[in-house]
Amino acid sequence: MLDWNETVEEIPSELVLTPPPVREDSDSTGLGEIARGAARVRVDDKAMINCRADVNQLLPLKYRWAWEKYLSGCSNHWMPTEISMQADIALWKSSNGLTEDERRSIKRNLGFFAASESLVANNIVLAIYRHLTNPECRQYLLRQAFEEAVHTHTFQYIVESLGLDEGELFNMYREVPSITDKAAWALRYTQHLSDPSFATGTLKADQAFLRDLVAFYVVFEGMWFYTGFAQILSLGRRNKMVGIAEQYQYILRDESIHLNFGIDVINQIKFENPHLWSEEFQHEVQDMLRSAAELEAAYGRDTMPNGFLGLSAGLCEQYMHFIANRRCAQLGLEPVFPSTDNPFPWMSEAMDLKKEKNFFETRVIEYQNGGSLTWD
Ligand SMILES: [Fe+2]
Ligand SMILES: [Fe+2]
Repeated sequence: MLDWNETVEEIPSELVLTPPPVREDSDSTGLGEIARGAARVRVDDKAMINCRADVNQLLPLKYRWAWEKYLSGCSNHWMPTEISMQADIALWKSSNGLTEDERRSIKRNLGFFAASESLVANNIVLAIYRHLTNPECRQYLLRQAFEEAVHTHTFQYIVESLGLDEGELFNMYREVPSITDKAAWALRYTQHLSDPSFATGTLKADQAFLRDLVAFYVVFEGMWFYTGFAQILSLGRRNKMVGIAEQYQYILRDESIHLNFGIDVINQIKFENPHLWSEEFQHEVQDMLRSAAELEAAYGRDTMPNGFLGLSAGLCEQYMHFIANRRCAQLGLEPVFPSTDNPFPWMSEAMDLKKEKNFFETRVIEYQNGGSLTWD
């Protein structure tokens, strides 16, 4: 169940080779009039966007990769409250356990994630879900939306455990310019999609939808989250804030599937609608990744002005270039930065939960199920 690692990113999902015809006998929301007596849905009727095949019918499956990710997400279930915060509380409250630089970095990191989890969740529920017209992808989106709620819960739990100023933390995305700049960049791409009058079906609208997918899945979850993980996991490796580091490992495991789902969705839409993926559009996506990396570099300078053990703004910028080039490769694009080594090779090890020997000691693996139900 915990057998995962980042190599899943390296394996491109098999594309389905049957772009379907558009059918007009149903609607893309699944909430319209029932098409009484309409022909049954065939697998070839299904499509990622602009599909009119009944979206209320999960079967027959067309995109098995989406279903597999739904199953993986369910297998990875966890809750933040299962992780002990005792060591973190003791360290946070001791006067000489952490340097001022470490405290600043931790707080800004938590502040960035606290709001970002909500931004990502809102984008899924209010923008992406409506325009992705495939039931197995929607099944995964429902699971992902729940996981984002668990991640938001994590930050509530951390704030409560450490006695942090909740207003300071949850307002950072509006009050700390280097965080605001990132959130504002991504929100540009979702604002018009969440407009109730927005509809896909034209070149312009379909490309706007693709941009939203790139901004949230590839940049937000696939680039910016990764430097955030590196910061906290680097502290965890030095036995500092080990509870938060463990929670971040779980979040990272979830996010790695979110990212890969997003990449598969984009690649499948590209395949079914090659006219959307024009050369001009590809350059636009590359520019998005470049500007996202610049914003992250500015965030790194703000959160780690002096650096600390093994971590600095310069190394985080290098890591971002390394990650951006990987994301380009996953999307079939040329790299946007000169080739560079991964400055944090330990990240792949930190991502392997099996290697955390203390991990299972605090983990509650038995979930309450039907046995806990009582009927009075
Ligand atoms: Fe998340
Ligand atoms: Fe996510």
